Amino acid sequence: MTTTAHAGIIPVGIVLQVITACPPKDREVLAAKVAKLEKKIFPSSEAFDYSIELKKKNIGLVLAAREGSQELVGYLVFQRLKSQAWLHKLATIEQERGKGIARCLIHSLCQQMKKGGCRTIVLWVDEARNPARALYASCGFQQIERLPDYYGPGRTALKMEVDIVE
Ligand SMILES: CC(C)(COP(=O)(O)OP(=O)(O)OC[C@H]1O[C@@H](n2cnc3c(N)ncnc32)[C@H](O)[C@@H]1OP(=O)(O)O)[C@@H](O)C(=O)NCCC(=O)NCCS
Repeated sequence: MTTTAHAGIIPVGIVLQVITACPPKDREVLAAKVAKLEKKIFPSSEAFDYSIELKKKNIGLVLAAREGSQELVGYLVFQRLKSQAWLHKLATIEQERGKGIARCLIHSLCQQMKKGGCRTIVLWVDEARNPARALYASCGFQQIERLPDYYGPGRTALKMEVDIVE
């Protein structure tokens, strides 16, 4: 079956930026910005070290910021592996949720990866993260695997995938 993420309409006042490989000169600033947002949203046990991650040539970001400011309101972290891209992290700040920002981030990723010859986007999500699961399902992702205790005792992980080839 072939599916694509539904197109997102970028909310007024929000701009998106896709960074497929982080230029060294921007690395420190970007790493600090994303880490700051991540700290507010995810438990510290799930934090990435962006000063290391952003050095990898196949790690990219899709960023959502308020127009005219540098303030991030959402981010997505991905990794390109041949014909597959992994969506590692995705979040929108609490005040901006429910406006379609995360859907736009996913749509931008799908468009970018499709252009670059990727065929699928894959991710792991905590089964207890209901908003995230609903988001991924609404973007065409389908569950392909379920691993109990993957994130720790009692925390099940779901593997989800969307085909981005038309
Ligand atoms: C999950 C998350 C990224 C959604 O961000 P968002 O910008 O609010 O999502 P959107 O506004 O783009 O929502 C798009 C669709 O996702 C689904 N969705 C999003 N939030 C939802 C919620 N709280 N309950 C049910 N469905 C939800 C809906 O289908 C929605 O479409 P609709 O508004 O037309 O119904 C955000 O809640 C978040 O950052 N959560 C904490 C971090 C997290 O869990 N990240 C994902 C795992 S890495």
